[in-house]
Amino acid sequence: MKALILSGGKGTRLRPLTHTTAKQLIPIANKPIIYFVIEQILGAGITDIGVIISPETGERVRAVVGDGERWGCQITYIIQQEPLGLAHAVKTARGFLGREPFLMFLGDNLIQGGVKHLVDSFEQSDSEAIIQLKEVENPQQFGIAVLGEGDQIVRLIEKPPQPPSNLALIGIYLFKSSIFTAIDQISPSWRGELEITDAIQKVIDLGYRVEARRQEGWWLDTGKKDDILEANRVVLDEYMRSINKGYVDQTSKIIGRVEVGLNSKIINSTVRGPVCIDEGVIIKDSFIGPFTTIGKNCCFEKIGVEHSVILENCHLYHVDRIEDSLIGYNTHVQKGSTQRQAIRLFVGDDSQVMV
Ligand code: DAU
Repeated sequence: MKALILSGGKGTRLRPLTHTTAKQLIPIANKPIIYFVIEQILGAGITDIGVIISPETGERVRAVVGDGERWGCQITYIIQQEPLGLAHAVKTARGFLGREPFLMFLGDNLIQGGVKHLVDSFEQSDSEAIIQLKEVENPQQFGIAVLGEGDQIVRLIEKPPQPPSNLALIGIYLFKSSIFTAIDQISPSWRGELEITDAIQKVIDLGYRVEARRQEGWWLDTGKKDDILEANRVVLDEYMRSINKGYVDQTSKIIGRVEVGLNSKIINSTVRGPVCIDEGVIIKDSFIGPFTTIGKNCCFEKIGVEHSVILENCHLYHVDRIEDSLIGYNTHVQKGSTQRQAIRLFVGDDSQVMV
C-alpha cells in the first residue's frame, strides 16, 4: 500500500509564521510535525510515500524532509499548483497512487497510537474506505460523519452550521480507487474547494460501503497558534526524557524531564521540565518553565518563559515572564520598559520585538 501526505494548502490561520514556512514544518518538541506523520506511516509498514506540496512552500518541505533516505523509505513530491481542496490534491496524485488502495494523512495532524491497526483492518476489509473519527465539542469546524448500523457511515458534511453529529473526520483516510471515480463527479463547495468529505459521500451514493473507526487517544489538529502550544504540551508530556548532551553549571538546577542538546549551555538558571532544548542553545540567569521547547542556537539572558515554543536562532533578553507564546525563527525580543506583567507573543520569523 502507498501513503499520501497532504502538505500543500495556504496555512492562513497560522500567519504570520506561515508567511515564511509551511505549517507542516513547524516543530513540536523540536521535530517538524510532518516527521511525526511520516514515522506513523512507516510504523504501519508503508514505505512508498507521496507528499503533496505547494509551489510557495514546496521547496522548503523538500529541503527539510528529503527523499526518505534518513528513514529508509521512498518519498515522491507532487506539486499541487493551487490549494483547490483535499479531493483536488488526491486527484493531482492520481499518477503516483495508481489503482492500489492507499492511506491519506493530513500533514498537519498528530494522533496518539499510530495507524497500523487501521491499515491492517483495511487490508482485511471489503469496504471501499475507512475513515478515522473522533468526538469533538466544536463540530462546526470539521467534516462531520453520521453513522448508520454498526460502523457504517451513511452521511458526511463539511463544516456544517448545524451539525447532525459530533463525530469529526480527523484527517486520516483509507481509500480504494473508487475515490477517483467519486472525485470526478463532485463540484467545488461554497469555499471553492473540491472537498474530500463530498467525495466520500459520493462513494456512499454510488452504493459502496464506507466504514468508521474511532480515534481513542488524543488527536491534535495543529491549524492555529493555541493548537501548536497544546500539541507541544501533549508531546512533551508523553515523550520527553531526561537527556543531557550539553553543559549545566553548578549553580543551575534541572528539575523533572529535561532534554539538553549537544553544545548547549545552562548557566545560573533553573529549568523545570518537561522542557526540550535543542543544540547550541545558551541560557543564562533565566527560568525555563514546563512545556517549553527551545530551537537550535537560541540565546536567552535574564528570561522567564513557560508553556511556549521558540524556534531556531532567537535571542531573548531581560523579559521577566513570557507565557503561551509562539516565536518564529531568528527573532529578537528585548525588554524596553519596566513593565512586569506576563506577556504572550505570536511573532513571525525575523522580527524585532521590544516589550
Ligand atoms: O483537521 C481535520 C479536518 O481537515 C477535517 O475535519 C475536514 O473534513 C477536512 O476538510 C480538513 O479541514 P481543514 O479546513 O482543517 O483543512 P486544511 O485547509 O487545514 O487542510 C488540511 C491539510 O491539507 C493541510 O496540511 C494542508 C493540506 N492541503 C489543503 C488544501 C485545501 C493541501 O495539501 N491542499 C489543499 O488544496
